[in-house]
Amino acid sequence: MKKILITGGAGFIGSHVVRMYVNKYPDYHIFNLDKLTYAGNLENLKDVENKTNYTFVKGDIVDGDFIQKLFEEHQFDGVIHLAAESHVDRSISNPMEFIMTNIIGTVNLLNAARYIWKDNIEGKRFYHVSTDEVYGSLGDTGFFYEDTAYDPHSPYSASKASSDHLVRAYHDTYGLPIIISNCSNNYGGNQFPEKLIPLFINNIRHNKPLPVYGKGENVRDWLYVLDHATAIDVIYHNGSIGETFNIGGHNEWKNIDLIKVLCKVMDKKLGRPKGESEKLITYVTDRAGHDLRYAIDSTKLQNELGWTPSLQFEEGIEKTIDWYLENQEWLDNVTSGNYQKYYDEMYGDR
Ligand code: NAD
Ligand code: DAU
Repeated sequence: MKKILITGGAGFIGSHVVRMYVNKYPDYHIFNLDKLTYAGNLENLKDVENKTNYTFVKGDIVDGDFIQKLFEEHQFDGVIHLAAESHVDRSISNPMEFIMTNIIGTVNLLNAARYIWKDNIEGKRFYHVSTDEVYGSLGDTGFFYEDTAYDPHSPYSASKASSDHLVRAYHDTYGLPIIISNCSNNYGGNQFPEKLIPLFINNIRHNKPLPVYGKGENVRDWLYVLDHATAIDVIYHNGSIGETFNIGGHNEWKNIDLIKVLCKVMDKKLGRPKGESEKLITYVTDRAGHDLRYAIDSTKLQNELGWTPSLQFEEGIEKTIDWYLENQEWLDNVTSGNYQKYYDEMYGDR
């Protein structure tokens, strides 16, 4: 039985990847390593927690000794590394957490994999899950390609860029069998409501202001989270060692246009008069260093590995809104505790 370590499996994307792997690959034993920060939630994995091919390990990737022992004990055949501090606004107010987890944590995993695979790399794989934000910001036209030069602007994207460079350096220097993917903005169920889509769905539901940064003209390329999980699966199994793949939805939206779609669909679902939720839109101070536009070209992934997104945005956003409306208890749980403090600090004075 192959042993696969998935880091950050209690988070948004990680939980979808863990569920897919546990169900799809009964001949793999999936180890989910997660520190359970504010963003990690084992509720996300209730349906697989008792499966015999699944083990949860609570731990911090920043703790190098712990990571080394874990790898020695289980002799993993593969790693899919998603654990990270992932929210740009938090990286602006507290960069150090991002440096520690995203850079030092990644190096600890690389060192441990290098150590246990030193005599035999046959069939082994270290898959690093990264972001399109490492490429920086686009103007009105153009796309990010796999060979676009890195130009990160936030502490979050700079820490992810740094980890990408280190992953490639371990391949070039030590021959570690790595693969990297850089994906655009994900949306779907189980996303912590600090990110645009779940935050705004939750605020609309509770008739709270919708804090639009700047003029709402920034553009993001949105991909349904299960399509990202499918891409990860395809790349993990069929991507060539040392390669990078861009993953995107070919689905660009100006923030304000996307927010208006959310308002419209929510009005319908909540039985509110047309135009009611749009009244909640409130323009606030822009995010510092706010990247204008992200757009991914994922032709390489499509041509080499045959992956394309399965869902149209209209369908994906309906599914997503339904998920949050049907899982109010999940939202209530994650927005209790420290969430209110974060919210007040983040939006209180804007
Ligand atoms: P998330 O914040 O929802 O989840 C991150 C998970 O990592 C949480 O479960 C958290 O508990 C865990 N974690 C954090 N620090 C840890 C540590 N020190 N040790 C062990 N576990 C730790 O993030 P997400 O949105 O699911 O993103 C997952 C990965 O995908 C990240 O690497 C992110 O950079 C990348 N990514 C995200 C998006 C997106 O739109 N969300 C897009 C492209 C790439
Ligand atoms: O592109 C991939 C990245 O997408 C991932 O690497 C990150 O982990 C993920 O958080 C996401 O980053 P963004 O900064 O693009 O996502 P966020 O949901 O925070 O913001 C989306 C856009 O909405 C962005 O232009 C900022 C804007 N925004 C966001 C929030 C939270 C607002 O206008 N108001 C808000 O309150």
